[in-house]
Amino acid sequence: MAILITGGCGYIGSHTCIEMLDAGYDIVVIDNYYNSNPEALKRVKELSGKDFPFYECDIRDADGLRRVFSAHKIDAVIHFAGLKAVGESVAQPLTYFDNNVSGTVVLCGVMAEMGCKRMIFSSSATVYGTGNPSPLKEDMPTGAVTNPYGRTKFMIEGILSDLCTSDPEWSVVLLRYFNPIGAHESGRIGEDPNGIPNNLMPYISQVAIGKLQQLSVFGDDYNTPDGTGVRDYIHVVDLAKGHVCAVDYAIKHTGVEAINLGTGVGYSVLDLVNAFRTVSGVEVPYRIAPRRPGDVDTCYSDPAKAARLLGWKAEKNVEDMCRDSWRWQSQNPQGYK
Ligand code: NAD
Ligand code: UFG
Repeated sequence: MAILITGGCGYIGSHTCIEMLDAGYDIVVIDNYYNSNPEALKRVKELSGKDFPFYECDIRDADGLRRVFSAHKIDAVIHFAGLKAVGESVAQPLTYFDNNVSGTVVLCGVMAEMGCKRMIFSSSATVYGTGNPSPLKEDMPTGAVTNPYGRTKFMIEGILSDLCTSDPEWSVVLLRYFNPIGAHESGRIGEDPNGIPNNLMPYISQVAIGKLQQLSVFGDDYNTPDGTGVRDYIHVVDLAKGHVCAVDYAIKHTGVEAINLGTGVGYSVLDLVNAFRTVSGVEVPYRIAPRRPGDVDTCYSDPAKAARLLGWKAEKNVEDMCRDSWRWQSQNPQGYK
């Protein structure tokens, strides 16, 4: 029994490879290295002490996928492969629809052909859009998204749901991630963004290490306790463990379930800056800047469904997240390069 991990060389994928191996699963990984470095999987092998097959393969390449499925008995797919930069998706929507949506359609087609009908999909809290109050629950309306990236996630959720309706043998878990941060506690693998980071934690750590001068806090006039945006930050290792539980679940059930992976607790931008300073002992200079278009004031999960269906709960706190992000950043100032 093997689990195929698409995009397994990326940030969340590499951490999930370790947790899947630790849980005793055999894995097969594919990635096209568009946003990752082979060094990540080398380190996954070191950390886990296990070897596994890897294929440099694009999810839009049906023949390449067929070769992978023919070479291995794949029981389920954890599907991370996708593009994720919100701003880039606004500038290049067709690239995002092609890679994320068409890529998923090609992957599902080959899976159906090869008789593998279980998928864990990387969705996002972004599908809840702007209209819902936090805590966000899975049965709230989705689709009022603010950018093409979010639309790809919403569209793929719909496509996978339609697939389950068409064929009752399919089993799909739509995991709606909140804000993954942190790194493996070894400091050997972590998030390695290209260029200037878009997201808060990599920006904070690059300011702390001296690569960037100052954090811009996007808005201090939100309707939140300190006026800065509130998010549900979740440690990437907790998130990775959620995937192991989701695979266990998908093997025993059919149909489609959307499940939040979050902690249920919101922290503001300044909370995160303060927690980071406390655990690292390093100052993070910041200035208040205008709001970033498309941002909501508050976004945090109701994680009860994950506890009920998957038996999963986030265990690490915000200090763990900051400490592990800092260890990764300070031990690898240039990322994997
Ligand atoms: P990442 O960019 O680090 O990992 C994605 C991996 O997929 C990369 O290694 C990339 O090279 C690969 N990839 C992209 N397109 C591919 C293709 N066509 N064929 C094969 N490989 C391809 O991103 P991540 O943070 O690990 O995110 C993983 C998934 O989780 C993505 O689908 C992302 O949209 C989703 N997600 C991420 C976040 C977040 O904040 N990190 C939040 C919600 C959802
Ligand atoms: N922020 C700053 N300065 C920065 C970066 C971010 O103040 O330099 C603030 C944002 O305004 C927001 C908070 O920090 O209040 C978190 O911002 P991130 O960019 O880290 O995360 P988002 O919540 O905006 O978006 C993330 C992912 C999206 C995903 C969304 C919901 O980047 O892909 O969570 O899951 F869709």
